[in-house]
Amino acid sequence: MSTKTATEYQFILISQEERVGIIQLHRPDALNALSPDLMKELVDALEAFDADDAIGCMVLTGGEKVFAAGADIKKMAEASAMDMLLVDQLARWDRIRKLHKPIVAAINGYALGGGCELAMMCDMIIAGENAKFGQPEINIGVIPGAGGTQRLTRAVGKAKAMELILTGRQFSAQEALEMGLINKVAPPELTIEEAKKLAKTISEKPAIAVRTAKEAILKAFDTTIEGGLDYERKLFYLLFASADQKEGMQAFMEKRTPAWSNR
Ligand code: CAA
Repeated sequence: MSTKTATEYQFILISQEERVGIIQLHRPDALNALSPDLMKELVDALEAFDADDAIGCMVLTGGEKVFAAGADIKKMAEASAMDMLLVDQLARWDRIRKLHKPIVAAINGYALGGGCELAMMCDMIIAGENAKFGQPEINIGVIPGAGGTQRLTRAVGKAKAMELILTGRQFSAQEALEMGLINKVAPPELTIEEAKKLAKTISEKPAIAVRTAKEAILKAFDTTIEGGLDYERKLFYLLFASADQKEGMQAFMEKRTPAWSNR
């Protein structure tokens, strides 16, 4: 699977370090506002890394002072409801939910509106002490449209989600950590390194087990406990068809490091 070279993208930068695929939002003149063109490039790049056997985990980051200031207000301001419905630009965002490999978000500065929602679409979040999260859509006469009411509520509970979405106030990385929305707060200059470190650890694990674990964890959000437990058990049994299960258990018994084939 070929991955586009960085020069073929206008609004993102891509790179690879060992088995970690890194994508940086790069539309500095508009605070990384998530225009349809930027989102097309982002989803294309994520899907390319997802299909690339050389990649085990992804990192999504923005700039030093802004991750993303949300969907592009200037491109939406004059739209009619029918324009929004027929173009359905948020359907593209939904493709991120279908990715198999884990994504670690590395957030410095603003992650507002769609920026906060994009961070929550990732599987883990490392935030710099300067990060400012928020769902300010209420202040421009709308509500979150890319999953904010659903993912924030599941992550932090009803009362907090109500307060944050109805007031639109910004909240800090420390508050996000205390609410259980993110994994870690880092000094801003180390945010990306911490995210890469976490992604590198995951990228060295057996790939099929990683993708299966991600699938099982996400299932917890849209099923009953009984349905989820059944689903998990079947995935667990299925992994006994993988070469990595044989290798992992054999290596344990032989007291040696496993050599994963990711098959
Ligand atoms: N869309 C388009 N342009 C944006 C933008 C956005 N979301 N956010 C910032 N910009 C633009 C500004 O218009 C400005 O452009 P000009 O230089 O051409 O005037 C430039 O980026 C710099 O912005 P500011 O001058 O406002 O910078 P600041 O440092 O004073 O403030 C900020 C920073 C607090 C992030 C402020 O820009 C802001 O509040 N932005 C909007 C945040 C927001 O409401 N996001 C939600 C969008 S709706 C959404 O996301 C829907 C959804 O659920 C999918």
